[in-house]
Amino acid sequence: MIEKYAVIGNPIGHTKSPLIQGMFAESIGKKIEYTAILGELGQFASTIDAFRASGGRGLNITAPFKLDAFAYATDLSQRARMAGAVNAMKFDGDRVYAENFDGVGLVRDVITNLHCPLAGKRVLVLGAGGAVRGALLPFLEQKPARLVIVNRSVDKAKELAAAVDAECPLSGVGYGDLAGQQFDVVFNATSASLRGELPPVQTTVFADDCLAYELAYGKGLTPFLRLAQNAGVQHIADGVGMLAEQADPGGHARTGHAGALLEAVAGRKLDRADLVHDDLLGQHAVVGQAQRGVRAVVRSMRVRLGEGSRDAVADLEPEHPLAHGDHLARAV
Ligand code: ATR
Repeated sequence: MIEKYAVIGNPIGHTKSPLIQGMFAESIGKKIEYTAILGELGQFASTIDAFRASGGRGLNITAPFKLDAFAYATDLSQRARMAGAVNAMKFDGDRVYAENFDGVGLVRDVITNLHCPLAGKRVLVLGAGGAVRGALLPFLEQKPARLVIVNRSVDKAKELAAAVDAECPLSGVGYGDLAGQQFDVVFNATSASLRGELPPVQTTVFADDCLAYELAYGKGLTPFLRLAQNAGVQHIADGVGMLAEQADPGGHARTGHAGALLEAVAGRKLDRADLVHDDLLGQHAVVGQAQRGVRAVVRSMRVRLGEGSRDAVADLEPEHPLAHGDHLARAV
């Protein structure tokens, strides 16, 4: 019997996930049906009930349904529980196993694409909202030397730090508490960049050879990245690579996220990236090449980000195919 999978979102018309998922499944000799579901707001549970009743095996969840998916799940992974949001689930009888791969994608991007291991590093995270909740456990799994969460509303940062059992020193502080402290990696996980705002962080936090990482993507040099660059930070990156890298610890959801990346790229009409997009969809229906295409998109977007600044993010590793495994057999 053909296995049924889907991606649900609203809007969803622009998704490339079905095409890419189909392509990947074919490459591992699997026959699947992967559709895009335009979910109606407030109807998540009944829509998914119907999908399961029709034989649906698994689902990718995109905006605005990640919280609905969290509520729907019967078995939340630790990461999903911590994040309070779900972006992939699989169905097994009555059970609904749910995951959140957002933070995993971020960590993989930093380690794999940017060659910046977090182990032993002093890590600063700006913000204490949903994005940070999703990234916190994956960060801690890397065993940084210490991790500091800084937030405008200090209580939120303290609560978040207190909610986790960490092996390394972990604290939640206010921006004023950072005086005299330096960090090897600084993540801007606030939503400030979405409004062109700058979080009130001092440039003294950037240690020599620091990486400044903006979780937002497609915004070019955000006020945070500009601040870092003006302060002489050599390594800057935005969050585009997160999309490419989400969720492949066991070969789980990679292809869905390749699709998400392409959507993001196409939606922003970046010329070079669009070329890669066409190339990927038109000519190379092969896993390795598709992954190289995603890598190329990431690089091309990052080169744009760093245009004129000769920043180090253009210096990504050579393209190489990534393992994909039997992702569809186990989850979407
Ligand atoms: P998300 O899910 O994207 O993390 P969120 O849960 O609304 O969004 O959280 C937004 C985060 O960005 C919060 O940590 C917020 O700080 P407060 O909790 O103090 O509101 C932070 N943020 C938003 N705009 C900011 C700004 N201009 N400067 C500093 N922090 C900002």
